[in-house]
Amino acid sequence: MNVYDSEAMARVLAPMGYELTAHKKNADCLLLNTCAIRAKAEQKVFSYLGRLTGLKGNNPDLLIGVGGCVAQQEAKKIFDRAPHVDFVFGPHAINRLPEIVAQAEQGKRHAAATEFLDSFEEITQPLLDKADQEQSGVSAFVTIMSGCDNYCTYCVVPHVRGREMSRASQAILAEVESLAAKGVKEITLLGQNVNSYGNKEGFGSFAELLGLVHEVEGVERIRFTTSHPKDLSQELIQAFAELPKLCKHIHLPVQSGSNRILKKMNRGYTREDYLGKVCALREACPEIRLTTDIIAGFPSETEEDFQDTMDLIRQADYDSLFAFMYSDRPLAPAVKFPGKLSEEVKGRRLAQVLEVSEEIARAKHAAMIGSKQQVLVEGRSVQNPEQWRGRTGGHVTVNFLAPACGGLVGKQVDVLIENGYSNSLSGKLWTEDGDCPKPPTEESHAA
Ligand code: 5AD
Ligand code: SF4
Repeated sequence: MNVYDSEAMARVLAPMGYELTAHKKNADCLLLNTCAIRAKAEQKVFSYLGRLTGLKGNNPDLLIGVGGCVAQQEAKKIFDRAPHVDFVFGPHAINRLPEIVAQAEQGKRHAAATEFLDSFEEITQPLLDKADQEQSGVSAFVTIMSGCDNYCTYCVVPHVRGREMSRASQAILAEVESLAAKGVKEITLLGQNVNSYGNKEGFGSFAELLGLVHEVEGVERIRFTTSHPKDLSQELIQAFAELPKLCKHIHLPVQSGSNRILKKMNRGYTREDYLGKVCALREACPEIRLTTDIIAGFPSETEEDFQDTMDLIRQADYDSLFAFMYSDRPLAPAVKFPGKLSEEVKGRRLAQVLEVSEEIARAKHAAMIGSKQQVLVEGRSVQNPEQWRGRTGGHVTVNFLAPACGGLVGKQVDVLIENGYSNSLSGKLWTEDGDCPKPPTEESHAA
């Protein structure tokens, strides 16, 4: 979501003549897009801001702005602790950036744009008006809703991103069509809880929206994130069986395997409800890849509660997971909950979750050795530029060797998997006889 918002910031400032630079010291305006989801992310913002002080000394005209959820939550603290920051703006103020930056250019200092707006269109227009936007790349995010109404007790999101609001399906389709026309092959639909898409507005269900996006010519893969388990409908589960372009992967954050803790978290489901939905997903789509988020050490979590989580991880047989130590967020109710655990206990539980998940992921990836996987090629491998990089439909990164003839980016190719690691796979381009094709000759290059 923050990647999407950062791209939007660059886009709205382009008409003012601002363009991206890779080097801070060349910048006329530095924007820091921040995340407040956990305490660590927020601490990073303040230490980073500290390091920027010197830059202003070298370039007194430099403008520094802080956007995103820390800006929304901590505008005053930012100006107090980092007075060299010129302005702050929350997630609802991205489309007002040109006006905010223009005022800062005129010398206005310490402006804070943190009001919440009332409709999706107000927040995002002309942000999403991307008709003339350059889009290069294989994959693109398309935002379908903003905010969240779930109020999980540990979570800051409803307090910094505002109420849940969905975007009209015609606008979503228009954006998807325009991206497909520019060559984008993979669309990821974004929202805090896509499963409740359109409920308030009466826009039709999320599964219906997927059906519409599926019709768009040129789109080859559809993904979405994030799904709340309580709102995962049978209709959506069925979509995995019925829509071939829908990637067979679902990120379904469970957070805990203990019913007592799930209740305290206000998650709205039990472990039995959750595991029932996992069964239904696997029944509808046996090859589906399942990933999740886990919070280790929520206030009052006992060893028994934690063992319920470990047990659920094994039962759900996740392909991969993200795990975090619980951290207090000032605006979230759990900050006042009794039974806070020490960093040591939280750290030990986190390590256990990561250990078991890595073990499962390694075994699953090892079992894929020798298989043929369809990979959408995104570019050259980051670690080894001789290799190509892409993802399976299940969202596993694959690095592979292929003749260096170019032209693979944006194509779906078959790869023979030769190695499995905890976070990725590697192999070579598949050929019928299982051999990697020879590097191209001069003639085949010309052809
Ligand atoms: N402490 C730890 N993890 C958190 N998350 C959200 N809030 C907190 C918190 N206060 C995690 C959840 C969520 C993911 C995006 O971040 O697991 O799914
Ligand atoms: Fe936060 Fe819960 Fe909303 Fe997810 S569903 S953004 S965890 S409040």
